[in-house]
Amino acid sequence: MSKLAAIVLAAGQGTRMRSKLAKVLHPVCGRPMVLYAADLAESLAKGHIAVVVGHQAEQVKDLLADRKVDLVVQTRRLGTGHAVTQAQTAFQSRGGNGWGGRRFVILSGDTPLLTEATVRALLTLHERERATVTLLTAHLDRPAGYGRIVRGRDGLVWKIVEDKDATPAERRLTEVNAGTYIVEGEFLFPALAALKPSNVQKEYYLTDIVAAAIRQGKRVAAYIAADSVEALGINTRAELAEAERILRARVRQRLMDAGATFLAPETSFVDAEVRIGRDTVIHPHTTLEGRTIIGEDCVIRSHSRLVESVLGDGVTVLDGCVIEGSRLEEQCTVGPFAHLRPGTVVRPHAKVGNFVELKHTELGQGSKANHLSYLGDTRVGKRVNVGAGTITCNYDGVNKHQTVIGDDVFVGSDVSIVAPVTIGRGAVIGAGSVVTQDVPADALALGRARQVVKPGWVKGWREKAKKGKS
Ligand code: UD1
Ligand code: CA
Repeated sequence: MSKLAAIVLAAGQGTRMRSKLAKVLHPVCGRPMVLYAADLAESLAKGHIAVVVGHQAEQVKDLLADRKVDLVVQTRRLGTGHAVTQAQTAFQSRGGNGWGGRRFVILSGDTPLLTEATVRALLTLHERERATVTLLTAHLDRPAGYGRIVRGRDGLVWKIVEDKDATPAERRLTEVNAGTYIVEGEFLFPALAALKPSNVQKEYYLTDIVAAAIRQGKRVAAYIAADSVEALGINTRAELAEAERILRARVRQRLMDAGATFLAPETSFVDAEVRIGRDTVIHPHTTLEGRTIIGEDCVIRSHSRLVESVLGDGVTVLDGCVIEGSRLEEQCTVGPFAHLRPGTVVRPHAKVGNFVELKHTELGQGSKANHLSYLGDTRVGKRVNVGAGTITCNYDGVNKHQTVIGDDVFVGSDVSIVAPVTIGRGAVIGAGSVVTQDVPADALALGRARQVVKPGWVKGWREKAKKGKS
């Protein structure tokens, strides 16, 4: 059996997107779309992968930097056939007999709905038919824009004709080319070398290798996708939205199959890499982004957005929270309306209440910051009560400073803690204090003006005020 290698085409600009960003960098379900093709290539052809980059090549390269793939630059975008030709060098430089004896799977960077199962079916057909070229096709109600599959009277594939080059009769054909191919290396590269850009777009079409194979008497096989959405190529924003919709539904389905409850699945936006434990309940209108991992028996209430965060078991996130780059350990509660910024750690059984913002802060086990607080660059010990309206003044206009609050501290309401400052374990801070100096363990600290009371003072003041008016 021939060794399988993969080529991913990702050099195009994607003019029809009307974007400053290269098409393959546009995210689908929170991941740049080229990663879907790269993942597929990696699971099919380990270690023998070339990705053809061009438009915004540096960004695409950065994205793939930690993968075992050869990055090949197509400096002039002369078409899909030209793009595959560029990949040739990657296989030649590996020594041995280069591309000879290899079988290639060619994938587009703009078809993120394609599944591994379908490509495997394509490979099986290719072997069974002893084909030289095997392509994936699909029947679409609206085939406009795609290359059409032209079959002979015998039903065999004859050629692919691009939308722009098609006759009116050919345009009526509904079987389209999905842009996924299996091709024998011995045939592929010589056939590409013989391509001519004699078409409306003056490009070297990869699709022309089909007619070339037929001319040479080689066998061309076609596998019709059972689910035509797998062929969806993203060329426009509308197609991007369509792919997004389908892929998000797949992600939710996978998570529900694994034991998560979604009360209104179609209103939850969940990125492709999110993981959710069993018996966790996701309420309507929730957004889970990036590599967020949620444990078992959690509850995520409506209008909350979790980004790149990790939640232990039994965590409750109430309504309207924004949680980014944070770790919430088991049985803690957050919200409603809390803002947890990167570097926040909420230890087990701790509670973050409404209108609380935490940044680069650790809230210790069983501690509470229940109302209207800002804690930044702060380490809070265990069983601490942070009173309503407590603010850490962590920024002096130039530098950020640390606050450390020991175990069992009680901070009264409306306290300003001017960092850097350390409050020893068991201390009590009186309400309304401005704390500027360290407080030793078990001490009471008061930093506020002493209250003045003048009995009957108001009466005299009112009389004077009235006289002044007349
Ligand atoms: C291509 C096929 C068409 C098929 C459709 C499926 C050709 C000529 N046509 O058309 O038959 O129905 O895909 O989605 O192949 N690319 C490069 N370098 C280039 C040009 C393109 O790397 O010079 C890459 C793009 O980044 C993209 C892929 O190749 O990932 C496909 O290119 P695109 O321009 O989208 O081709 P389509 O017109 O969609
Ligand atoms: Ca395309």
